[in-house]
Amino acid sequence: MSTSAATRVTGLPVRLTAPAPGWELAADVCVVGSGVAGLCVALHARAAGLSVAVVTKVRVDDGSTRWAQGGIAAVLDPADTPEAHARDTEVAGVGLCEPEAVSVLVHEGPERLRQLIDWGAAFDRDPSGRLLLTREGGHSADRIVHAGGDATGSEVQRALQDAVRADPGVTLVEHAMVLDLLTDATGRAAGVTLHVLGEGSADGVGAVRARAVVLATGGMGQVYAATTNPPVSTGDGVALGLRAGAVATDLEFVQFHPTALYLGPGARGQQPLVSEALRGEGAVLRDGAGERFMAGVHPLAELAPRDVVAKAITRVQLRDGVDHVWLDARDVSDLARRFPTIVASCCAAGIDPATELVPVTPAAHYASGGLVTDLVGRTTVPGLYACGEVACTGVHGANRLASNSLLEGLVFAARIGAELAAG
Ligand code: SIN
Repeated sequence: MSTSAATRVTGLPVRLTAPAPGWELAADVCVVGSGVAGLCVALHARAAGLSVAVVTKVRVDDGSTRWAQGGIAAVLDPADTPEAHARDTEVAGVGLCEPEAVSVLVHEGPERLRQLIDWGAAFDRDPSGRLLLTREGGHSADRIVHAGGDATGSEVQRALQDAVRADPGVTLVEHAMVLDLLTDATGRAAGVTLHVLGEGSADGVGAVRARAVVLATGGMGQVYAATTNPPVSTGDGVALGLRAGAVATDLEFVQFHPTALYLGPGARGQQPLVSEALRGEGAVLRDGAGERFMAGVHPLAELAPRDVVAKAITRVQLRDGVDHVWLDARDVSDLARRFPTIVASCCAAGIDPATELVPVTPAAHYASGGLVTDLVGRTTVPGLYACGEVACTGVHGANRLASNSLLEGLVFAARIGAELAAG
């Protein structure tokens, strides 16, 4: 994407204060982060015969991927088209998407999804074996594949972890907080320093030497008081990139998910997500008087793009002086089988969504901006790549379309893999 409007932040420290590395390991590629983006880059790099070190802040499955509910958007229905998917993406992105990046996403998505299935991910299918497709906000067609009902991310994470763990060419370092980028005399990325906190064979500050570094560290939702993101989502990759002189952009475009489960006025940190797919299957929003309020706001009503729904909810909350609205899922068929994760979260909060209204409120959900990359994941620092939520490829514009995030990780990881293989 163009860097003309992007910001190069000055006045920041260029390195964190840390002791010199006390241990080292070497690989062709160092991947920082272990969600869909990081693990897919690792698998593609391995397919190209490269050795890979994956370093991750806590445990391998502690990132955002495992929490994704809704699914992965991909054009699989013969009645659907990549052009329609592109149009929906650009409408949700409020005209600020990069059309070339969007075109890559929607055209390459289906093939990458099939590859994920080949790697072992099992998605929900009808009795004849066809993938089940649902709809989420901003989509004009049913094109969301899902797994375990509303446990898509968990299945994606499991399949990728199994594949990576089975490969002796991948060294996995857990509990490793990345510190700074290492560079060679020409300024090219040459690895990272990191701090391993008392787990595994390495301990203390160390270094991974590599000829390419791929940041796949996810988002920064924990900057906000209430978020759907797990505790590890603290923006480490963007911070490292900025210290290393990489250009970041669109950091103000933080998407709020309209429906996090409302757990009371004191709720802080990660809040349970109530997937948009529930609205895709017929759930509706109601105010305190029981009235639906989305119908007059947008032609897609409850399935309008997320920013529209989140703002409408906030307006109702301000109008009525309340801190949540209600999601009515009582008419959704087969609720417990189709949405087991949500039903479990509700039950843990003492709510039966089959018979009761569910209190919901918006929460910080997704960073649409990040480190500027081109279409093969290169940041503005040679040898430093970014993939997934930490990157700004331009596909999301000001507001990501539902279920385009796992898809972006799949698609751009493959492109980074091809670039690493060529370089
Ligand atoms: C959801 O299931 O509502 C979230 C999916 C996404 O963020 O794309």
